[in-house]
Amino acid sequence: MSAETAPTLLIVGLGMIGGSLAAALKAAGYRGTLLGCDRNGDEIATGLAMGVIDDGGSALTPLVERADIVVLAVPVLAMPAVFEALAPVLGARIVTDVGSTKRAVCDAARRVFGTLPARFVPGHPIAGSEKSGVAAANPTLYRHHKVILTPEAETDPAAVQAVRDLWELCGAQVLEMPVARHDQVLARTSHLPHLLAFSLVDTLARQDERLEIFRYAAGGFRDFTRIAGSDPVMWRDIFTANRDALLGALDDFESGLARLRRAVEQGDSDAMLGTFDRASHARHYFQTLLNQTSYQAMESRQVQYRVSPGGSVSGRIRVPGDKSISHRSIMLGALADGVTEVKGFLEGEDSLATLQAFRDMGVAIEGPHQGRVTIHGVGLHGLKPPAGPLYVGNSGTAMRLFAGLLAGQAFDTELTGDASLTKRPMARVADPLRLMGARIDTAEGGRPPLKIHGGQPLKGIDYDMPMASAQVKSCLLLAGLYAEGETRVREPAPTRDHTERMLNGFGYAVTREGDVARLSGGGKLTSAPIDVPSDISSATFFLVAAAITPGADLVLEHVGVNPTRIGVINILKLMGADLRLENPREVGGEPVADLHIRYAPLKGIDIPVDQVPLAIDEFPALFVAAANAEGTTRLRGAEELRVKESDRIQAMADGLAILGVDATVFEDGIDIVGKGGESANYGGGRVDSLGDHRIAMAFTVAALRASAPIEIDDCANVATSFPGFVALAERVGLTLKEVEA
Ligand code: S3P
Repeated sequence: MSAETAPTLLIVGLGMIGGSLAAALKAAGYRGTLLGCDRNGDEIATGLAMGVIDDGGSALTPLVERADIVVLAVPVLAMPAVFEALAPVLGARIVTDVGSTKRAVCDAARRVFGTLPARFVPGHPIAGSEKSGVAAANPTLYRHHKVILTPEAETDPAAVQAVRDLWELCGAQVLEMPVARHDQVLARTSHLPHLLAFSLVDTLARQDERLEIFRYAAGGFRDFTRIAGSDPVMWRDIFTANRDALLGALDDFESGLARLRRAVEQGDSDAMLGTFDRASHARHYFQTLLNQTSYQAMESRQVQYRVSPGGSVSGRIRVPGDKSISHRSIMLGALADGVTEVKGFLEGEDSLATLQAFRDMGVAIEGPHQGRVTIHGVGLHGLKPPAGPLYVGNSGTAMRLFAGLLAGQAFDTELTGDASLTKRPMARVADPLRLMGARIDTAEGGRPPLKIHGGQPLKGIDYDMPMASAQVKSCLLLAGLYAEGETRVREPAPTRDHTERMLNGFGYAVTREGDVARLSGGGKLTSAPIDVPSDISSATFFLVAAAITPGADLVLEHVGVNPTRIGVINILKLMGADLRLENPREVGGEPVADLHIRYAPLKGIDIPVDQVPLAIDEFPALFVAAANAEGTTRLRGAEELRVKESDRIQAMADGLAILGVDATVFEDGIDIVGKGGESANYGGGRVDSLGDHRIAMAFTVAALRASAPIEIDDCANVATSFPGFVALAERVGLTLKEVEA
């Protein structure tokens, strides 16, 4: 809103909430006049003395006559009387309110005015404090808080916009929802917890009238009951006004409590753990949302790696679980009939976001505890509509695979991700899914978010993939589970086949004929245990570390060596690496081995095109190997690298240039002139990982042969795929520090 034309605002009820609105507007430099009206003259005097209002008094009518917008900040049960007083003078003025229940306020307005006034915008700032009175006004109360507006069909959009502008000026995030939904959500997230806090404190106080017991209460009690100090009249009003929704929430709570009581009574440890696990994860998720650091905002944490030049590489290590298999274990486990036990699960942000998304769709999941996860499958048709968008963080795999499986659900969903994912192409899945009958909206250019309309009948498809992508293949096979008839996906080159293997392991037949994977819809998945091997993509950073460091001798245990993933092994061997697979075995349908690597001088090669899809995630590290080889390494046919978590060809070329390594970039690849030799091969410097985990880890390893430190910016996303990377790198002999900016 332009400062010059700012309307005169009247706040009726100058308590903590109304006073904070005035204080926030003042602090934001609001140019309009701010008036206050309160039955209690002392509040007006205090507001004037504090400078949060310009003028005010206790008589409503003359103040309304001076105002353009009226904000009702009185208790909900006082609203009808205020509407009565307003009715004769209101005219075309905009009115909004801050009441915590919207149905009661709208009903009162309808009763008094005959219809809902078009310029009445029901609102509710989700912010508060147990303090009351204008003296407690806080100019930052609404900053980064949500304000919910609940306009009805008859509400004037211009009035909504004017109210929105006011709150946004206070730093709030404004959103709209229907009245009934608002009341239900608030009954559960605000009114019920207040009721419980009041009740708990009162119950204890009655049992010990001298209040002695509170002397012994510590942090847990304090945290749980802070809100019992809130304004009793206001809460009586709210509970009265939102009676039905609150009683519904209380019924649900009582049955949950009864379940837990039974579990405690019967010593049912599994039931207790199941409940506490779910709650603890839900609370953790909520906390990360609150801090704006959800799996979402890890990206906004600024982490820099400072890696010292040189170092050794030796020992036996085990890197975390495979990311691709971890995602799939949760997805198929959730859709299976029965309980799936997973071990070796990757506790990285990407796979945790997938796990949370299924919790959001009503799947009970225990863990992870040290890589163990128990998924209580709900069957192919047992998912429930999530309350909001499903957030999949940094993960292209999650978004694309989810697109397939959600296209087959009866309900609508929206998939969102972080800044990097939001730039990545999704038409590659949306287009063929539409051919199957799905209804999917993307943002401009086929980018996320994806809106998936449920309830669409899907039919099988015979699809020639234009690119070699396991994600597209898996997406279509998952949609195929819900489709009528057969789904056939032809790949131009072999890509990872974890989806097919795991589906077969869950008793769902997927067959392979040459370059085609196919399945028929309408079957069912039966739970099966999953042992996730270590991720060869994570192992790669240490393979390259050892391959370029004289004297290195390293064993990487229990690494997945699925033939569709071993491009890195083949390529390093072609370059001359001394790399052996020891103790090969099969674990849960996936081949596994220990990888033993010792230093040997590397030479530059032309990377065989057929290895590209088999090493697609390993190129950032392989480029570092190439920089340390003797001669030039040439890569072509790898245009897919341009649409990964970053444009990996350009990101690596830029970083290598800073270190002093020559590289020529092509649309589909790169030539890297190796600096092979026994001493330091290149310089140091500050490189940007562009928030791409694999770029960050590749340059960490590069420092082993640098002559000066390498500083790598924007490394927080290493946690998406490789939690514990820094500690493991130090353990094998690198020297690095993780610095949070
Ligand atoms: C993955 C497939 C690959 C890979 C990604 C994981 C998967 O992507 O790069 O890290 O789990 O299916 P594309 O299918 O896009 O090549």
